[in-house]
Amino acid sequence: MKPTTSYQRICEEIAESPRDWLVTGSAGFIGSNLVETLLKLNQRVVGLDNFSTGFRHNLEEVKSQVSEAQWARFKFFEGDIRNLDDCMRACSGVQHVLHQAALGSVPRSINDPILTNANNIDGFLNMLVAARDSGVSHFVFAASSSTYGDHPGLPKVEDLIGSPLSPYAITKYVNELYADIFARCYGFHSIGLRYFNVFGKRQDPNGAYAAVIPKWISSLIKNEPVYINGDGETSRDFCYIENCIQANILAATTTTQAAQNQIYNVAVGDSTSLNQLFNLLQKNLSNHFDHVAAIQPVYRNFRAGDVRHSLASVEKAKMLLGYQPSYKVEDGLNEAMKWYIDYLDE
Ligand SMILES: NC(=O)c1ccc[n+]([C@@H]2O[C@H](COP(=O)([O-])OP(=O)(O)OC[C@H]3O[C@@H](n4cnc5c(N)ncnc54)[C@H](O)[C@@H]3O)[C@@H](O)[C@H]2O)c1
Repeated sequence: MKPTTSYQRICEEIAESPRDWLVTGSAGFIGSNLVETLLKLNQRVVGLDNFSTGFRHNLEEVKSQVSEAQWARFKFFEGDIRNLDDCMRACSGVQHVLHQAALGSVPRSINDPILTNANNIDGFLNMLVAARDSGVSHFVFAASSSTYGDHPGLPKVEDLIGSPLSPYAITKYVNELYADIFARCYGFHSIGLRYFNVFGKRQDPNGAYAAVIPKWISSLIKNEPVYINGDGETSRDFCYIENCIQANILAATTTTQAAQNQIYNVAVGDSTSLNQLFNLLQKNLSNHFDHVAAIQPVYRNFRAGDVRHSLASVEKAKMLLGYQPSYKVEDGLNEAMKWYIDYLDE
């Protein structure tokens, strides 16, 4: 019999004695998956979203995945984190905040730095103030691997960062700085999770700012060109959503003092190049669609703001949070693929 993990233990504990959570960005990819898991653990959950990049159909899908009684424990506020009153309203009566709302995407931030700044920095500060003033005890926020910027070291360890390479990266670094200042000035503790290329069901495959995995799955299924920016040897530490959920729940419930007010990498600790990723997706989808095996990727220029290699050390999260990423990239792709095939194959 496998030994029980910290994550299994805490899931059992909170299921037995449910708590009050706020998930911002709850109509988005990561937020809606967090809501689904929390509801399945019988938690009381508030969601906040302005639907700028999230969708009502994501919430509808969560509804279809949980029982009626579990869904009745979910309360949704349509609101904007750029508005302090909306943040205050959402934080009221909540113990645990999983703050996901932000405008993602490096290219989006290069095209519109003001909009990214307003959502990711002003909105973040509002959430910190609202959480502090509402007496939230555990505040966990989505930070980003983009904060490593141009630092050449591999694997990435939390304390060694370089200069940011995009407006988006600046905003996510400023989040960390504000979180630290709130601890120093107000004794308000939080935990930042630097996500490394999270993927899984409900990650939007459409639009100019779609992430590489859903975009390529969509292109392969629809027999459209698959573009590789650069030579394909750019690499990432792709992290399946279940690992990301695990890190959030562990961080939000930790009772270890030393684990508070820290930043953690959330990834697997494995490197996959874009060429390898293409091969994995092609192999997987060839089992379902005859046309996929013949598709050749189209190579084009490197993209501004992209880091060349991104690979995490997850030792800190393992040591202080008991994080044990249970899904390797191939396991995650196998699970995510079922959803994308249903979602995209008309
Ligand atoms: N997906 C990744 O690989 C990844 C990597 C690093 C960091 N992150 C961070 O994780 C978080 C979630 O990302 P995601 O991939 O689920 O993106 P997403 O776009 O699917 O989700 C973000 C959600 O936040 C909402 N939102 C945006 N601005 C808002 C505002 N002003 N007020 C209220 N709601 C707002 C959007 O409508 C959306 O539902 C973000 O903070 C992102 O920067 C994601």
